[in-house]
Amino acid sequence: MTTQDEMKRNAAVKAVEYVPENEYIGIGTGSTVNMFIEALAASGKKIKGAVSSSKATSELLAKYDIPEVLLSEVLQLAVYIDGADEVNHTLQMIKGGGGALLKEKIIATAADKFICIADESKYVSRLGKFPLPVEVIPMARSLVSRQLLKFGEPELRIGFITDSGHEIVDVHNMDLSRPLTTEDQINLISGVVENGLFARDAADLLVLGRADGVEVIKPHV
Ligand code: 5RP
Repeated sequence: MTTQDEMKRNAAVKAVEYVPENEYIGIGTGSTVNMFIEALAASGKKIKGAVSSSKATSELLAKYDIPEVLLSEVLQLAVYIDGADEVNHTLQMIKGGGGALLKEKIIATAADKFICIADESKYVSRLGKFPLPVEVIPMARSLVSRQLLKFGEPELRIGFITDSGHEIVDVHNMDLSRPLTTEDQINLISGVVENGLFARDAADLLVLGRADGVEVIKPHV
């Protein structure tokens, strides 16, 4: 039987094929991305540098001698590689399970192409089983949570502070049948910094590790 970790690793290894040499790329955060960084290092493929979405990713890049650059230092990112907590058939995603959604969304917006890497358990017909992470300014956490009651059941991620010094409220049992609208509506609440719905910044390609191999999926429209 193929384990979830094996499926993640197979997707991560396959994704290296989509990394152009001698370009800048963006790199997300999480266990699948960690496997991608290892696979990129093992491949010997040379990139100009990587924009990192978190301290954890930066540490791993340094360990493998992959040069890190700041987003402000580059004009173009050829590709952004990241995992997801859920991804639907149009390749809209819920992200932020690891709490790095703010920088992840910024880098995804900046990149020419978003390649999502995941195991098959993440590929769903409808988003919303996974709680939606919402990054908030700490002083506004109660104010924001009261507003989020209109969308679902908010729960503060206790003891968690993001790399940017904010808190995360996870919203359970949401109706995410209109991801684009919900993404915008939540970001309009004062005190919300960003939310983990990636509907505007959906992936361009999904590299999905399955029990019987890796499938490369384009958005179904
Ligand atoms: C971090 C993320 C990750 O991409 C997401 O949580 C998936 O993580 P993993 O690869 O460990 O399953 O959005 O903020």
